[in-house]
Amino acid sequence: MNSSFKEEQNKKTEAIEQLLTKYLPKEEGFAGKVAAAMNYSILAGGKRLRPMLMAETYRLFGGVSGQIEPFMAAIEMIHTYSLVHDDLPAMDNDEYRRGRKTTHVVYGEAMAILAGDGLLNYAFETALRAFDTEAADPARIARALSILAGKAGIYGMIGGQTADMEAENLGSRATEEQLLFIHAHKTAALIEAAMMIGAVLGGADEKQTALIEQAAYEIGIAFQIQDDILDVTSSLAVLGKPVGSDEKNSKATYVTLMGMDAAQTRQKELSAHAIALLESLDGDYALRNDFLLELVRSLITRIK
Ligand code: IPE
Ligand code: IPE
Ligand code: MG
Ligand code: MG
Ligand code: MG
Repeated sequence: MNSSFKEEQNKKTEAIEQLLTKYLPKEEGFAGKVAAAMNYSILAGGKRLRPMLMAETYRLFGGVSGQIEPFMAAIEMIHTYSLVHDDLPAMDNDEYRRGRKTTHVVYGEAMAILAGDGLLNYAFETALRAFDTEAADPARIARALSILAGKAGIYGMIGGQTADMEAENLGSRATEEQLLFIHAHKTAALIEAAMMIGAVLGGADEKQTALIEQAAYEIGIAFQIQDDILDVTSSLAVLGKPVGSDEKNSKATYVTLMGMDAAQTRQKELSAHAIALLESLDGDYALRNDFLLELVRSLITRIK
């Protein structure tokens, strides 16, 4: 990976951190604790991949106005809520996330459930603020809100988490179809939302938005395959979350179902195809964002 890409990525991550702090709830009053738990989980770091993909797709389509910013914060809130709930004892029962103790370990289970609920709702309260930004495009914002709602819901991420829980203990008896459903929904759906919202707000037409959805789907599946691989090969110190979580919970993963080599091959194929799709926009419409291409390329070799 070239060092100027890394530098640029760090700068962009830093800018997203700044942006997030602008939208955080205040830790005050009788309900201050839920805000504290929300802020604890969202400020813990993380790669900020979804807001970055959103902003870069927006830029790809020539978007320049600030209406993207509330949506960047909103998608990270929804993603973070999914992690807070994913780590709960009733789900994956994990004690570390983003290099620190999980929200339920620090604030207790009740507060972690409420902080997750709070983040999900606050995401929409935040995204709605896009209507008040300068040069807001209400029709595009309405479409972006509908994408966000759908991809996060029972036909999106929540559906995937449901199937993931249902497949526990099936392990290698899960079918490939089942596994693809899980990955497509629990992980790819929010990545699709991120990139589609960037596209729609940036002014992409229906055909371009559909292409972005397909590319994001492939990026999302590849991303979850690498997550499954790292759960076997990495360490708590590098990953910031426990390894062996999938084995502990007898999860169906790409590694258990197809083996390590096939999982590696599959994620590389998906990533290459997604990049080809993004590059095809360049041919058809003269749209290009080299940072975005490099970002997608970097995901298959990521170590956390
Ligand atoms: C973790 O997502 C959950 C998955 C969908 C695999 P990330 O790997 O993007 O987590 P953070 O945001 O960097 O902590
Ligand atoms: C979780 O998948 C995806 C969501 C939280 C929606 P995992 O359970 O594999 O995520 P990690 O490994 O705990 O981050
Ligand atoms: Mg899980
Ligand atoms: Mg988990
Ligand atoms: Mg995992």
